[in-house]
Amino acid sequence: MNNIIPHTFHIQRNDRAELKGHGSLVIWFTGLSGSGKSTLANRVEKKLFDLKYHTFSLDGDNIRRGLNKNLGFSREDRIENLRRIAEVARLFIESGNLVIASFISPLKKDRDLVRNIVGTGNFVEVFVNTPLEVCEKRDVKGLYKKARAGEIKNFTGIDAPYENPMSPDIEVKTDEEGVEEAAERIVVFLKNKLKLIENE
Ligand code: ADX
Repeated sequence: MNNIIPHTFHIQRNDRAELKGHGSLVIWFTGLSGSGKSTLANRVEKKLFDLKYHTFSLDGDNIRRGLNKNLGFSREDRIENLRRIAEVARLFIESGNLVIASFISPLKKDRDLVRNIVGTGNFVEVFVNTPLEVCEKRDVKGLYKKARAGEIKNFTGIDAPYENPMSPDIEVKTDEEGVEEAAERIVVFLKNKLKLIENE
């Protein structure tokens, strides 16, 4: 950090908000692998896009093929994965976007780290609450089977922990609520939150 002096740019976040006609936030989807985070996030983004909001999606499987391809699933690597993603999300917030982020983010302290980096007021936590049995039964990517067979180590829910969020802004029980219904509920929440920010 020595000898690094940040530059102040003329165009700030509020200028971009004015141009775009709305504020910016991170909508953070957390839940087990196969819980339906990306499906729900996709539906939410489409709805927001259709309403002419500026959005951008960040997703575990995509980011891990590019920016974070040197990281695995040890404790340290998961923390670094999420730290980098949070910094990227912060840049997208500054650029005036609604950032849709879908990462397992298994531990409370990981999610607290993200919340601190992006700023509490910018962070909306969505807990995609699908029971492990359901995720494992779906096993869309065949990873649970491999984890049970010991071919993948540190797999969340099998031999690595997932801590349920204690007070998420929104909880979606995917075995009780449809994607469309849940996505609509999230969009209503976001619209209200953006209105509150605007009036602050
Ligand atoms: S996180 O724990 O660091 O937040 P992230 O969301 O980026 O995880 O990546 C999760 C995705 O990586 C899963 O959806 C799954 O496809 C894949 N994956 C590969 N190995 C593991 C593992 N050991 N634990 C969890 N997910 C894994």
